[in-house]
Amino acid sequence: MRAASLLLLSVLPLAALGAQTPAQLAARGQQAFAHRCGMCHREGGTGTFILARRLGADKSLLEKRTDLQPLYLRTVVRWGIGNMPRISRVELPESDLEAVTAYLTAPKGPAAP
Ligand code: HEC
Repeated sequence: MRAASLLLLSVLPLAALGAQTPAQLAARGQQAFAHRCGMCHREGGTGTFILARRLGADKSLLEKRTDLQPLYLRTVVRWGIGNMPRISRVELPESDLEAVTAYLTAPKGPAAP
């Protein structure tokens, strides 16, 4: 109860400003990833397949990577790379790209491989 109200107090000022906590941003990014990237970058996708060939199986799934940098992600998404087509601001608005980047670069827990 007390912890919950403390949490609320720490989140409220951010919400009032229309800002999001890093966890909220990452959660939104996970959804956007599922819609815009998942068909190629989850199990069985062409992106996963090609990255496994180019970088090795341990780097083939973007959601498991711990080495992705925000600027690299942004550049790849907006310009494309190899067999990946560029993704425009119409398909993926800036705010969604920011959320996807937050999601893919968020620290992974110790349980993550
Ligand atoms: C139509 C399929 C497709 C979609 C949709 C797609 N990708 Fe890709 N992506 C690829 C392919 C294929 C590659 C490998 C390109 C190559 O190496 O030739 C790739 C490579 C990448 C890489 C390079 C990884 C590295 O280590 O070099 C990043 C980063 C990436 N994609 C991010 C994304 C993100 C973020 C999204 C969603 C916003 C996305 N991709 C959507 C197909 C896709």
